[in-house]
Amino acid sequence: MSWDGLLKAYKDYLPVNERTPDLTLNEGNTPLIRLSNLSEQYGVDWYVKTEGTNPTGSFKDRGMVMAVAKAKEEGSNTVMCASTGNTSAAAAAYAARAGMKSIVVIPEGKIAFGKLAQAVMYGAEIYSIPGNFDDALKIVRSVCAKLPITLVNSVNPYRLEGQKTAAFEVCDALGSAPDILSIPVGNAGNISAYWKGFTEYHEKKQTGLPQMRGFEAEGAAAIVRNQVINQPETIATAIRIGNPASWELAVAAADQSGGKIDEVTDDEILEAYRLIARKEGIFAEPASCASIAGVIKQLKSGELPKGIRIVSVLTGNGLKDPNTAIDYNEIKPILLPNEEDSILERLKGVQPV
Ligand code: F0G
Repeated sequence: MSWDGLLKAYKDYLPVNERTPDLTLNEGNTPLIRLSNLSEQYGVDWYVKTEGTNPTGSFKDRGMVMAVAKAKEEGSNTVMCASTGNTSAAAAAYAARAGMKSIVVIPEGKIAFGKLAQAVMYGAEIYSIPGNFDDALKIVRSVCAKLPITLVNSVNPYRLEGQKTAAFEVCDALGSAPDILSIPVGNAGNISAYWKGFTEYHEKKQTGLPQMRGFEAEGAAAIVRNQVINQPETIATAIRIGNPASWELAVAAADQSGGKIDEVTDDEILEAYRLIARKEGIFAEPASCASIAGVIKQLKSGELPKGIRIVSVLTGNGLKDPNTAIDYNEIKPILLPNEEDSILERLKGVQPV
């Protein structure tokens, strides 16, 4: 069966009309992979939605195809966003595809290398500021209110419309909603979008509703602490956000679903990051792994019972952030001379065939 992207597949659920351009990079339709080893270890039925398999390597493509298509439909020729990296990559790619200009504002030195490479390659105009994401978003919102430039951060409602489609795919793959949907929380748009998706699909198809469990990084846990964090800090730069724009929507998603917004430490994130790579062969970026770390934390504490069905959203591809992969692993390439003997010497003890 051919897959022509989200706007075609879900046009009945999206604000698509005859004037909406046919924009796509064949985003969506991402794999839902069962964590067979970890499911067995923890006595649960656990899956990951690998959003890193989208065209620019993150879930942002779902929201961006919708937001850029609507911007084009409405006659705009420039889009702009603040970003910790993934939004800027997606904005730049879809703007390029639509023949539009993109401008991205990023926190200096705090975006993963692969994401910067993407913005450069797709031809975005890149402004780097000596502030954090929250500062960048404030500036971008103000600039877009003054100039004929379309804001494509998740405060643009079309972004959440596009992103809600991931919830549809989860229900279609499993036949119903899972018991638990775990997800990293940064600016809090994605958890809000998933909840919208689950409730809309349930109204149409009686697919059931999951408990929404969102996880912030401890050093950026504004919602958990119920206070704005002026200097957010975490290894998971994608969610290094201290004043989430969709704060109320995220709290509503957690409350209405009987779920919770919780926090995980950087150590828990890094442990989960290595664990899913080594036990399941899945490489997701650090921020994504907050969704794994959070489930492990709540399974260990007994807050989550055995036997449940869990879907964790892996929001971005591990290759986005090669530096963290190299820096936080003890096993690095071992330098050897260019000869077979030195490798055989290292392998002493392995039985000959
Ligand atoms: N995971 C990844 C990999 C992200 O890039 C982001 C957000 C999130 C999770 C959190 O999603 O903001 O909807 O709660 N990245 C934004 C960006 C902020 O600029 O790329 P959220």
